[in-house]
Amino acid sequence: MSERPKISVIGTGYLGATHAVCMVELGYDVIGLDVDESKVASLRAGKVPFFEPGLPELLGKHLDSGRLRFTTSYEEVAEFADVHFVCVGTPQQKGSYAADLTYVESAFRSLAPLLTRQVLVVGKSTVPAGTAVRMQEVINELAPCAEVELAWNPEFLREGFAVKDTLTPDRLVFGVHSEWAESQLRAAFKPIIELGTPVVVTDFATAELVKVAANSFLATKISFINAMAEVCEATGGDVVALAGAIGLDDRIGKKFLSAGLGFGGGCLPKDIRAFIARATELGVDQAVSFLREVDQINLRRRARTVDLGLELVDGDYTGKRVAVLGAAFKPNSDDIRDSPALDVASSIGAMGADVIVYDPEANDNARRAHPELKYADSLDEVLEGADLTLLLTEWQEFRVLDPGVVAKKVKALRLVDGRNILDPAAWREAGFAYRALGRP
Ligand code: UDX
Repeated sequence: MSERPKISVIGTGYLGATHAVCMVELGYDVIGLDVDESKVASLRAGKVPFFEPGLPELLGKHLDSGRLRFTTSYEEVAEFADVHFVCVGTPQQKGSYAADLTYVESAFRSLAPLLTRQVLVVGKSTVPAGTAVRMQEVINELAPCAEVELAWNPEFLREGFAVKDTLTPDRLVFGVHSEWAESQLRAAFKPIIELGTPVVVTDFATAELVKVAANSFLATKISFINAMAEVCEATGGDVVALAGAIGLDDRIGKKFLSAGLGFGGGCLPKDIRAFIARATELGVDQAVSFLREVDQINLRRRARTVDLGLELVDGDYTGKRVAVLGAAFKPNSDDIRDSPALDVASSIGAMGADVIVYDPEANDNARRAHPELKYADSLDEVLEGADLTLLLTEWQEFRVLDPGVVAKKVKALRLVDGRNILDPAAWREAGFAYRALGRP
């Protein structure tokens, strides 16, 4: 196989599209596949089907270079590539905590029968431990070439920083069964390894677990500080000052200690639930039972935010105009999967409020998922005539809000800062009834 293997990327969602484009940026020839024709058409036309800073520019640059193309044909992919990255989604199953592996199964079952020469198939999707072994069995059963091998290489990119996290990751994790597989992965990540990026070479189970363990740790850190916020609320303490103080201990660190409305998105919530489900199957549910608490603390923050707003409107949302700032699960993303902001907005809507939402990027996705809510095209429009304002996603545009300017637009000076990004004193001085999570 060549020193610079040809790459395929199967699945062009947040992970796959970014991986495909970044591999071209690193100098590889890449083909991206998706079974969704509209995604392929959009990528071919140079349009990234989701919001990710920096990605559209790189896509445009590399479509022009001729080293990147997109297809719906598995035959084309099998013909072209030496290393195939499987990047399809593993959402939470309906009615269960477990991960839905339908897309992973289907990708492997579609690709394997077409593999007529020695290639490496690399799983990147976040999966329950044990999946890689099963996928190797699928390959063994269906691939005409007996030398096709599997590796597992989890991905740690964050939305909003996906390009940077892919081009300069903190580490690479290679779950492999042979030196050949390791050498192929080293060839596929050569420019990144040359930067001095640590490479952890391990077995399948550990590689699968690194990803869920990392996400579980991050979710736990967030829920820890949000649990402290609950205690602050009962004692008059200030969780922001508390987090600042404990974060100065470099064993704890400041990162991922922002108390507020908690975590959402396509990864942390479903990954901790899938971990609980898998651990239960393995008979080690006690080892991760704390993750149930992590999930519950996280969800309680949403309920608390609804209650804080309710207190400000004197116990009755009926007919109240509620301006919701933010719909995406975090800033610099248009992803609304398990978004705390939208969850709160729709709960308040169901309690009779006239809810109007504004997000700089996620309005279209939010409108599709929650057509029952109203949407504004600008900050000015959402604030106009509001009886209550809720800041639920910390976009830069909201961080720099001027209380004096907001006061002139809204009907009543009432605000809940669900992300602890505003200065309480400034808002109170401007006359606002200001409430926040975990702060007096
Ligand atoms: C996460 C992991 O960070 C990434 O490594 C993995 O590959 C995928 O899952 P992502 O879902 O993009 O990435 O978002 P992240 O930046 O981790 O934030 C997750 C959620 O936690 C967001 O809703 C964010 O608002 C919330 N969060 C984060 C907090 O509430 N407090 C914090 O201190 C940090």
